[in-house]
Amino acid sequence: MEKNAYQKMSSGEQLLHALHSLTNMVRIYQGNNQLVRNCLVQLTESMTPLMTGAGLRVQLENGRFFINEEKLPRRRGVVEHVLELFYEFLTVRGIGALQFRTGIMTAPPEALVGFAVLLNECGERVDGPDWLDRQFRESGLDWVSVQVLAAGSERPARAAGERERRRPEPPGQRSPRKVYAYTLRSLRDVAQKISVNQRVGMRKAVRMVQTMVEEVFLQEQPLLLAMSTIRAYDDYTFTHSVNVAILSLYIGRQLGLPRETMECLGVCGLFHDLGKVTLPYDLLNKSEALTSEESAQLRRHSLDSTRLIVQLLAAPADRKSRVMIPPFEHHLKYDLSGYPVLGWTRPISLCGRILTIADVYDALTSPRVYRKEAMSADRALGLMVQGLGTVFDPLILKVFIRMLGVYPIGTLLELDNGEIALVSRAPLAEDLHRPWVVILREDGQGGFVRGAEVNLAEQDRDGGYCRRIVGSSHPSSRNIQPASFLT
Ligand SMILES: [Fe+2]
Ligand SMILES: [Fe+2]
Repeated sequence: MEKNAYQKMSSGEQLLHALHSLTNMVRIYQGNNQLVRNCLVQLTESMTPLMTGAGLRVQLENGRFFINEEKLPRRRGVVEHVLELFYEFLTVRGIGALQFRTGIMTAPPEALVGFAVLLNECGERVDGPDWLDRQFRESGLDWVSVQVLAAGSERPARAAGERERRRPEPPGQRSPRKVYAYTLRSLRDVAQKISVNQRVGMRKAVRMVQTMVEEVFLQEQPLLLAMSTIRAYDDYTFTHSVNVAILSLYIGRQLGLPRETMECLGVCGLFHDLGKVTLPYDLLNKSEALTSEESAQLRRHSLDSTRLIVQLLAAPADRKSRVMIPPFEHHLKYDLSGYPVLGWTRPISLCGRILTIADVYDALTSPRVYRKEAMSADRALGLMVQGLGTVFDPLILKVFIRMLGVYPIGTLLELDNGEIALVSRAPLAEDLHRPWVVILREDGQGGFVRGAEVNLAEQDRDGGYCRRIVGSSHPSSRNIQPASFLT
């Protein structure tokens, strides 16, 4: 955002902008990084005029932010976009309000960074807000507390035309962000119940998947595929599961699978790593090498996914029997050399083979604690080709690669004119190396804004290409969340 655009914001907007930037920056940079420090200055400056003797309250209600009980006026453009992103960030974590006390004004920078880190980490916890409040107390951050989101408040903020926008969007035209956020939140709800041994109906999951299937079939642009480029460093398990469901559905569409199989595939994608809800958080996020015992514990998760589906998901027997097996198979590998070790040679199911490809691709392209720099999408595909016929079904992997192109959607490209761009659409078959891209322009605040969408196959008058690719990298290397620019 241009500097004057930032200065034109109200203090409330500046505060939310600073909180949003800070949570993003601390995922990538250490607390002593200059960009992080800039965010901290903005945060304190924006809080100063808003802080009262009773503190400062940021509340979410029915898609709107309230600062100190006062509704923030709507605004179009970049400000609205940032507010929507931050609203989504909080609602997927189940946070309904942040209450700051005056102590925050004198808190040291490390404590503010710690606060932002915990806010991010809460996304990975099934009991998000309760866990966060406990962490704030245990870390001595007594100047902030959190409140659980009220039911029905997850709708993102919108501009004018409220009544009109309340009408359900027709299939094929639903907001991919809403579909993604709703699925993520519902998945976390299911996981939370499962983690405390509570039985939960599968109907909601099936409805989520039916919505996704409709969008995958009907949307002209692969908007949900663009959403699957979301990489949440601290909310890994749940975003990964939604991404795997989406990628699997696009593969299923390419293979021409019938609707019923697509629904089964989507549910399997959402629940393939369900077995991880019973694993300790520290094990899932360990940065050092695992001991053999820990590794065995981790390897049990695919079997546990199936066990939990059988024991705790309530569904008609025929539906349940179809979604039990693929989660169990997703680490088996095409040649059955993976885990768990089996005493039979029955080939893995079609859905299991699709899940394996979607799972590995999303995992390779995601930053993890033990591998902060994630692989760029084109390199990940290059690596996966080495497992053709051993790890992966050769035919399905080829279909997957053809579907994504040489530079898959969400890849960050450097162009010969110095611009950087995100791949937004797969190219035509005859020009596999020249996809459509969205140009990214620096906003002067350490971030980027969306520029024009251009076709890299476009030629100038002399028959040369207007722009050429000179390099590719992972968007996380520049703190870029592709989905924010592509949908
Ligand atoms: Fe897994
Ligand atoms: Fe997985």
